[in-house]
Amino acid sequence: MKKRVFSGIKPSGTLHLGNYLGAIRNWVADQDRCENIFCVVDQHAITVDYEPAALRQSVRELVGLYLACGLDPEHCALFVQSHVPEHTELAWLFNCITPMGWLQRMTQFKEKSEEQREQVSAGLFTYPALMAADILLYQTHEVPVGEDQKQHVELARDLAQRFNHLFGETFVLPEPVIRKVGARVMGLDDPTKKMSKSTEGDGHGIGLLDPPALIRKKLSRATTDSQRQIVFDPARPGVFNLLTIFQALSGQSREEIEAHFAGKGYAQLKGDLAELVIAALEPIQARYHQITSAPEYIDQVLAQGVVRLRPLVESTMLRVRQAMGLR
Ligand code: AMP
Ligand code: TRP
Repeated sequence: MKKRVFSGIKPSGTLHLGNYLGAIRNWVADQDRCENIFCVVDQHAITVDYEPAALRQSVRELVGLYLACGLDPEHCALFVQSHVPEHTELAWLFNCITPMGWLQRMTQFKEKSEEQREQVSAGLFTYPALMAADILLYQTHEVPVGEDQKQHVELARDLAQRFNHLFGETFVLPEPVIRKVGARVMGLDDPTKKMSKSTEGDGHGIGLLDPPALIRKKLSRATTDSQRQIVFDPARPGVFNLLTIFQALSGQSREEIEAHFAGKGYAQLKGDLAELVIAALEPIQARYHQITSAPEYIDQVLAQGVVRLRPLVESTMLRVRQAMGLR
C-alpha cells in the first residue's frame, strides 16, 4: 500500500525559494511513490489581515505554481481547502478537545501575534486545530513540510492520539517529513530570520516568478560578512545560507562546493548561485505562463481534486460524528 501524503501552502503572496526548497520540490520528487493530496489553505490565509481580491488572485497563482513546479494531477489530488467544508467542521470538533495550553505553546502563534499586535484573531490562535483537521481528515501518514511547521504537525499527531483515546480508534497518526537540506531557507537581507512571504523589502526573498535580472540583483546584495573563506560554517549565517541554497539546487556535497569556491570571493559565490537559481526557475516560469494562459484548466484540476477526495472525506466524517455522539 502506498503511503498517503498531505501538505498545504497558504495563498498569501508569491511563493519564494524557501517554499520551493522546503516543501514543493520534495512533494514533486516523491509523487510517484505516494498517494498525494495537496491543498491551497485559503482558510488559514484569512487568520491575519488580508484583501479579498488579492486572496482570490493568490489562490489561482498558487495552483498555477503547484502545476508549474511539476505536481501532476494524475498523481495528486489538488484542491482548495474552502471547497471541502468538512475541514472547518472537523476543526470545530478539534477545537473542543484541544487544551488551550497546547495552542499557547505554538511558536508561530507567539511570533504572528506579536506582528499583529493590534488585533489578534481567535482564528490565528486556533489555526493549529484547522491544520490538524486538514491532515487527519484524509488519514494521512506523512506531512512533508519545512522545519517551521514541525511543531504544528506534532500537535496534529497529539490530537489524533487524544481523539483516539477519548472516542476510540479513528485517526491515523501522521508524521512530519523534513528534508535535511533546504528545510529552513533564511532571508537574504537578514540571514537570522527565515525567508517569509510576509516580510517587507525588496532584498528579502527570491520569488519563484522573479525575472533573472532581479534575482542577480537580490543575490548580489545579500548580506554576508567580512571574512574571506567560503565554507559551511553555521556561525556565519549569511554565507551559510547562500551555500545551503547552492547545495540544495546543485545536489553537490559540501566538500565539492567548498572545493569549487576555494580561493574565490563572495562576488563569485553570489554570481554562480544566481545562475543556478535562474536555471532552476526558468522552466517553472515558462510552464507557469503556459498554464495560466488557459484558466479553465486550473478550474478543471481543482474540481477533479474535490471529486476524488469525496469518498475519503465522507467516510472519515461519518466515523467521527458517530464516535463523538453527534449521530
Ligand atoms: P507558508 O509560506 O507558511 O504557507 O509555508 C508553506 C510551506 O513552505 C511549509 O511547508 C513551510 O514549512 C515551507 N516554508 C516556508 N518558509 C520556508 C523557509 N524559509 N524555508 C524552508 N521552508 C519554508
Ligand atoms: N500552516 C502551514 C504553513 O504555514 C500551512 C498548512 C495548513 C499545512 N494546513 C496544512 C501544511 C496541512 C501541511 C499540512 O506553512
